[in-house]
Amino acid sequence: MDITFTTARKAPASSSVAAYGVTTEGFEDPSCRTELTADLETLNFTAKVGQIQLLPQGKQVTAIVGLGPEDQLDTNELRIAAAALARAASQYKTISCDLPHVSGLPINEATRAVVEGIGLASYQFGYKSKKSEAKISKVIFTGSTSNKTKEAVEEAVAVLEAVSLARDLVNEPGGSLTPSKFANKISRVAKDKGITVKVMDEAAIKRARLGGLLGVNRGSTNPPRFVELTYTPKGKPTGTLALVGKGITFDAGGLSIKPAQGMMDMKMDMGGAAAVIGAMSAFPVLKPKCRVKGYIPMTDNMLGGDATRPGDVLTIRNGKTIEVLNTDAEGRLILADALSLASEKKPDAIVDLATLTGACMVALGPSIAGLMGFNENFLHQVEEASGTSGDRVWRLPLPSDYRKMYESPVADMQNIGGSYGGTLTAGLILSEFVAEGIPWAHLDIAGPAFSNSSEEERTKGGTGFGVRLLIDLARNFRKPELDGK
Ligand code: BES
Ligand code: MN
Ligand code: ZN
Repeated sequence: MDITFTTARKAPASSSVAAYGVTTEGFEDPSCRTELTADLETLNFTAKVGQIQLLPQGKQVTAIVGLGPEDQLDTNELRIAAAALARAASQYKTISCDLPHVSGLPINEATRAVVEGIGLASYQFGYKSKKSEAKISKVIFTGSTSNKTKEAVEEAVAVLEAVSLARDLVNEPGGSLTPSKFANKISRVAKDKGITVKVMDEAAIKRARLGGLLGVNRGSTNPPRFVELTYTPKGKPTGTLALVGKGITFDAGGLSIKPAQGMMDMKMDMGGAAAVIGAMSAFPVLKPKCRVKGYIPMTDNMLGGDATRPGDVLTIRNGKTIEVLNTDAEGRLILADALSLASEKKPDAIVDLATLTGACMVALGPSIAGLMGFNENFLHQVEEASGTSGDRVWRLPLPSDYRKMYESPVADMQNIGGSYGGTLTAGLILSEFVAEGIPWAHLDIAGPAFSNSSEEERTKGGTGFGVRLLIDLARNFRKPELDGK
């Protein structure tokens, strides 16, 4: 991370910007009115969330940060305000800021929101030969230097680094982040952080009979990989959570090739995998009490001379067969193997994240993931983690009568449904590979994994969606009661 975050009692004279948060009420309160308030009013400052007013004061710049109405100020609003501050003050090196303290929210949550807002909005990635010069390098939180505040900062920075790692991986072009490079990178990160890692190469994948992964890989000159990660907590684990991430390093569509427009952003098709490794990289610092296993199948989806042909039948790890009618519906094929493998270890719950269907983007737009699955208690835990983390999700159904849409005359199923409800049939196909009774959540992150614009804490490109949700899910994980679904 290029920004260091520290604490101090009050804003040091050395900081180039001193930022102060104000709520609408604080701003309007007659007892607080000063010359400054009057000046701000002439500048049309009303303390809306994310409204920033820079005021030069000698060698320092004062930044007044709007926090909006007090009763609406939560971590999401605070993150938005902090991101706006980072954008407005991006050309300054050192910023002191009282936002976590002044927000009145619990200090660990508030610190996390502000670190995320400033850190993520300042995120940069690129191969430009000319590097952008000035940028924020130090942020000092004022108001308290207690151990509790310092610990909050340390945890928040771990989350920020986890999201940034996921963004870096998503932003890396498909031609340079091949499956073998992706697996090597993950191994290095995992070893560095103290997470156990096992990488299966092509021979091992064949021995494990991962027919979906091998089928998708058949059109590529880059061999596939399958990565397994394990985080083990100190003390007796409160349960085991399995995380599965789609790792298509580039999706050309295979022989059912994508049109140029639809292929442009397809380096992002490993956003689910990036979320899994991102979240797990933070666990040694954040110390969730459950065991967490990560399963990441990796290949690109190309159209070489021996690529899987429409009509080919693949046999998945759990023995079920799939007739591939559209090679561009490849995510479910590699996830089928991964979900089968994850199920064999009988975890207490599985969650998968996948940039799975364009249809989900059509339904929920660019910022919200589709949530499907079995076991109400577990799905509720995912929704709670969504609420606390800001990674937005919306429940969609898995209607069992839709299963007939993907019946095949020659195999157990085909890999596509009909013209409509593509997100649901994709979810239903995945469900065929989750062993009976295991609580399971599927997140279709096709929309929110990648952003076409820079707003709030997001920057154009990979967003790291899912990292924060998975972190909160693991930290609060409780073995779900089985509800027989
Ligand atoms: N990776 C894509 C889904 C996608 C599309 C993600 C747009 C992000 C943005 C996936 O592999 C795919 O191609 N899905 C097909 C499925 C169809 C062939 C049933 C789709 O959505 O068109
Ligand atoms: Mn595809
Ligand atoms: Zn894909």
